[in-house]
Amino acid sequence: MLERCNFPLQDASNYREAIALAFERVIASGQVILSGGVQAFEEAFAAWLGDGFTAEHCVGVGNGTDALELALRCAGVTPGDGVIVPSFTAYATVASLLRIGAVPHFADVAPSRPVICPLEVERLLAGRHSTRRIRAVIAVHLYGEACDLRSLRDICDHRSVALIEDCAQATGTMYEGGSIGTWGDFASFSFYPTKNLAALGDGGMLVLGRQSDLSRLRTARRLRTYGWNREREAVEFGVNSRLDEVQAWILWAKLKDLSKSISARRSLAGRYRDLIGPWAGQEGISLPGDGINWKHSYHLYVITVHPMVRTNILSRGVADGIPYAVHYPLACHQQAYIAQRLEATPVHLPHTERLAASVLSLPLNPYLTEQDVQAVSSHLHALVSVV
Ligand SMILES: Cc1ncc(COP(=O)(O)O)c(C=O)c1O
Repeated sequence: MLERCNFPLQDASNYREAIALAFERVIASGQVILSGGVQAFEEAFAAWLGDGFTAEHCVGVGNGTDALELALRCAGVTPGDGVIVPSFTAYATVASLLRIGAVPHFADVAPSRPVICPLEVERLLAGRHSTRRIRAVIAVHLYGEACDLRSLRDICDHRSVALIEDCAQATGTMYEGGSIGTWGDFASFSFYPTKNLAALGDGGMLVLGRQSDLSRLRTARRLRTYGWNREREAVEFGVNSRLDEVQAWILWAKLKDLSKSISARRSLAGRYRDLIGPWAGQEGISLPGDGINWKHSYHLYVITVHPMVRTNILSRGVADGIPYAVHYPLACHQQAYIAQRLEATPVHLPHTERLAASVLSLPLNPYLTEQDVQAVSSHLHALVSVV
């Protein structure tokens, strides 16, 4: 089972032909960076996002952190500006705004969900604790769970603040019948090799909202190449964050299979629910699932357990060859670097801190089998029922 848990290994082997073809195309064309493959992938990605999106709205970049940083820059975030962000996220989310010199305003998660609480966003926007202008809210669809986009959209519109969706872990999550990444003024995607849509290295996508005007679309495209215009003159700020042709052709080929692989994740998640659900409640375990108006893409299958039980499960998992994991043992405001920066104004986020102590990721990727899910479920049951 351990080999099947290694998603990059399984996925690269499964797409051996598509990968070889991508290399062939690049060798045959001699175009290695930002050429036909990137254009083809940007077009396909726009079509996959749905109505109102064209290749102009999709900017292939070097990775998901860059995509977020460029989204913040496009939203007008400058040094010293505030950005509301959940503390319970991959550190990369916060790194993107620190790179600009912006200031994180950490919001707690919703009481029973691992995503930002709209009431907290409202409270932070209304609060007078800071003189710094808050320019953006980052909604992280953690694990593949969708944030409450309808409420966040209303709040951001009402307060004239940009909404940015961090979709790094949620490619394939559906919200009110459409793809996530289509509600924000901007969205960012990561194609890191463990993600739902995985490159053979780094890759990312900056998505601009449907209503973006031409000047914003042009600025976003220039941002990834030094702020150059067509004549290679720097006309505004820019970075070097290019998607290469090999990654683009691989992603273009894999995008065609994305819905199939999300279905496989969803059906394995359904089996975990069938097997663990009947006894989860009495053991104090909660399981992930769809919401009323959204569908999970199960980048990660994360349950919550009592913290002491979690410690035991993790150590027994190592001994018994079951790769349980924790995403994430520390929320961002609890990490040393951020804690130093926040020293003067310590943050307490009760729901976030409770989650960080209790989340446990069970193995899940489309290459696992029914037997694998049964083995993990029985292992877990044996451990929690003896504590
Ligand atoms: C929630 C979240 N945001 C942003 C990123 C950054 O993506 P990348 O690793 O492609 O820079 C990640 C990657 O792990 C992530 O999980």
